Amino acid sequence: MIFFITGATGFIGRHVCASLTRQNHTVVTMLRRPEAQLDTLRQQVNALGGQGDLLQPVSGDLDQPHLGLTAPLPELDAVIHLGARFAWRLDTRTARHTNVAGSLAVAELARQHQCRLVFISGFMLENRAHLTRLGIDTAAPAGTDWPKVYRRAGGYEASKLEAAFRARAFAKQHALDFVEVQPATVAGNSQTGELDNSQPLYSLLDNLARGRLALVPGTPAHWLPLVAVDHLADIIRLAATAEAVPEKLLALDRQTPNLQPMLAQAAAHMNKHAPRRYIPIPVLAALLRLPGLAALMNTYPEALHFIQPTRFDTAITEAFLQQHHAIAPNIKEVIEKSTRRYHQQQAHTEAQ
Ligand SMILES: NC(=O)c1ccc[n+]([C@@H]2O[C@H](COP(=O)([O-])OP(=O)(O)OC[C@H]3O[C@@H](n4cnc5c(N)ncnc54)[C@H](OP(=O)(O)O)[C@@H]3O)[C@@H](O)[C@H]2O)c1
Repeated sequence: MIFFITGATGFIGRHVCASLTRQNHTVVTMLRRPEAQLDTLRQQVNALGGQGDLLQPVSGDLDQPHLGLTAPLPELDAVIHLGARFAWRLDTRTARHTNVAGSLAVAELARQHQCRLVFISGFMLENRAHLTRLGIDTAAPAGTDWPKVYRRAGGYEASKLEAAFRARAFAKQHALDFVEVQPATVAGNSQTGELDNSQPLYSLLDNLARGRLALVPGTPAHWLPLVAVDHLADIIRLAATAEAVPEKLLALDRQTPNLQPMLAQAAAHMNKHAPRRYIPIPVLAALLRLPGLAALMNTYPEALHFIQPTRFDTAITEAFLQQHHAIAPNIKEVIEKSTRRYHQQQAHTEAQ
């Protein structure tokens, strides 16, 4: 099969490329700078057990009209959309341009090719109470006052939410074959613990290691749901390749420990002490709005939204994965491997 993918060079994207090419699928990768990015990506995909030579680069950019695509594309079996600007304190205009308008341009590409669109959103799309608090009416999202949502949620999260609702509406309007994958926060590779330093879990581990986490955000019921990056990549592969796929796949490991025990587990692997006392999230968010504090603590108020007490129903996803014999790795072992890998990298950097 032949797939088109955005965001291939990202942490999730290169694992998806490995998962697809391992099964001999061809992946047309939209790259902003193919001449500078392709060799490294191919090497990374090979190192992950994929086949880098099955990647076909095309030059393109989510920020350009019609994605800036000029070369003709082969007939596609599915378009997989992972590309996004992923950062805290993203301004509304930039976030909307890349993450919302860019997503709709990708949806239009899938429409032109009359192929499936595998759209990557996020697990908070399933947290109804949170969406309501932000001002999104899930029954009638078209009436949402989006600028207000951007003020409340910050550019990254708001643009991901807006993109998902607009892409769903587009798919419905054009009767697109649309599958939405909703990942939890991504943990490291289940074999190696590899975790990019731009990932939110890496920042959390870094804050823990550097003693910036004196208190646990939230309450004993709060958690940060995780999914191992290679398992997520397999879920995305199945979303693209399987014949019958549920409309939404919630990629979230329900066995993820609550935040304090998770920090305690990670701290133990780094010979550090984990915080035991809690700070309510609204209080922490208010403190982090004091000038300079967020940067000093390496924590941004908008990142705290993902730490919450809500539990999620993953039954549909689990049944689908079982049908395809895709077994989730033990998430506690993934946390251990991610932490050990982080710790080794730090030791290596300090030794240099
Ligand atoms: N990581 C998580 O915990 C998590 C959780 C839920 C959902 N997600 C979603 O999963 C997707 C991938 O996340 P990730 O962690 O792999 O992100 P990442 O490592 O930051 O990668 C982002 C990717 O998007 C590409 N990109 C950014 N701006 C672009 C543009 N204007 N045009 C084309 N490509 C552009 C980047 O390409 P360059 O290399 O050219 O910069 C890169 O390949 C995102 O949609 C994210 O919202 C992630």
